[in-house]
Amino acid sequence: MFYTVTFNPCIDYVVKVDGLKMGETNRASNEELQFGGKGINVSYILKQLGVESVALGFSAGFVGEALLQHLDEVGLKSDFVRLKNGNTRINVKLKGENETEINAQGPEISNDELNELLLKLERVTAGDTVILSGSVPKGVDTDIYAKIVEAVGNKGADTVVDATGELLLNTLKFRPLLIKPNKSELEVLSGKRLESTEDILDAAFGLQKKGAKNVLISLGADGALLVTETGEVFCEKALGGKPVNTVGAGDSMLAGFLSELNNGFLSALRMGLAAGGATACSLTLATRDEILRLFNI
Ligand SMILES: Nc1ncnc2c1ncn2[C@@H]1O[C@H](COP(=O)(O)OP(=O)(O)OP(=O)(O)O)[C@@H](O)[C@H]1O
Ligand SMILES: [Mg+2]
Repeated sequence: MFYTVTFNPCIDYVVKVDGLKMGETNRASNEELQFGGKGINVSYILKQLGVESVALGFSAGFVGEALLQHLDEVGLKSDFVRLKNGNTRINVKLKGENETEINAQGPEISNDELNELLLKLERVTAGDTVILSGSVPKGVDTDIYAKIVEAVGNKGADTVVDATGELLLNTLKFRPLLIKPNKSELEVLSGKRLESTEDILDAAFGLQKKGAKNVLISLGADGALLVTETGEVFCEKALGGKPVNTVGAGDSMLAGFLSELNNGFLSALRMGLAAGGATACSLTLATRDEILRLFNI
C-alpha cells in the first residue's frame, strides 16, 4: 500500500479580478475553490493510474472538514489527524494582469497531535511505501520527516521524500528510496548554481552519497534526470504540448513514476514524464486518459 502524508493541506481560493486595484474595493469576475496539498495530489494521480493509496495528514476546523469531504467525493481513502484548534489554510490566488498569491500559515500542530500521526504510521509493513510531500507548518521541527523515514524504514517499508532544505537533508542518513528535487531545489541543497547537466548530476550524486537511494530531478519543460541506486543515469525529454497550468506537475510526476516502478526505471521515468506533462498541459490535475495518451506516444 502507498501512504501519502500532507502536513499542511489547503484550499486555494482562486479569484479573477480584471484591473485589480490595491487599496480599493474590487469585484471578482470569477471565483473558484481548488482543493490542494502535495501528498493529496500524489494520491489523486496514483488513483488515476489504478494504484490505491491512503492519504494521511492533518486537517482542522470546518475548512478541514470540507477538504476531507472532497477526498471522499473523489474516492480517495484518507485517514487524517483532526487538529483541535484552528482551520486548514485557505490560500488566496488573485488573478489579474499578473498573479498575486497569499499562502496562509496553517494551523498549529501540538506534540500530541504529531504523535497521533506517528501512531497511524505504525501500521506500515514491508512492501508499503510512505510518500512525504511538501513543507511542514511553522513550529514543527525540521527533523520530523527524518523521524518518519527512520521509523518507517525500521518496519521494512520504503519512503519517498519530496521536500527541500533541512527537512529533506535530515532524512538522507535514513536512506529514503527516492527524493525528487526540482532544479532550483537542487541548487539550494547543493549551495551552488547548476549550469550544465554535469553540474546537476554531480549535485545528485552528492545527495546519493549522503544516503538517498535514487534521485529524480525534475527540470520542468526540459524533462527529467534520474540517478539510480544501481549506478545508472537516465535523461529524458518532457512529454506533452503547450503548458497551461503547471501546478501539481511535480506531484503528478512522482505519482506516475512510483506507479510504474515495478516495470523498471526507464518505464517509471517515462510514466513520470507523461503524468507531469499531462498535468502541465491541463487546467487541473491530469486524468488517466491524458496521462496514458502521452505514455503511449
Ligand atoms: N512547461 C512544461 N512543459 C512540459 N512538461 C512540464 C512543464 N512543466 C512541468 N512539466 C513536467 O512535469 C515534471 C515536473 O515539473 P517541475 O520540474 O516543474 O516540478 P516541480 O517544480 O516539483 O513542480 P511542483 O510545482 O508540482 O512542485 C517535469 O519534469 C515535466 O515532465
Ligand atoms: Mg515540487
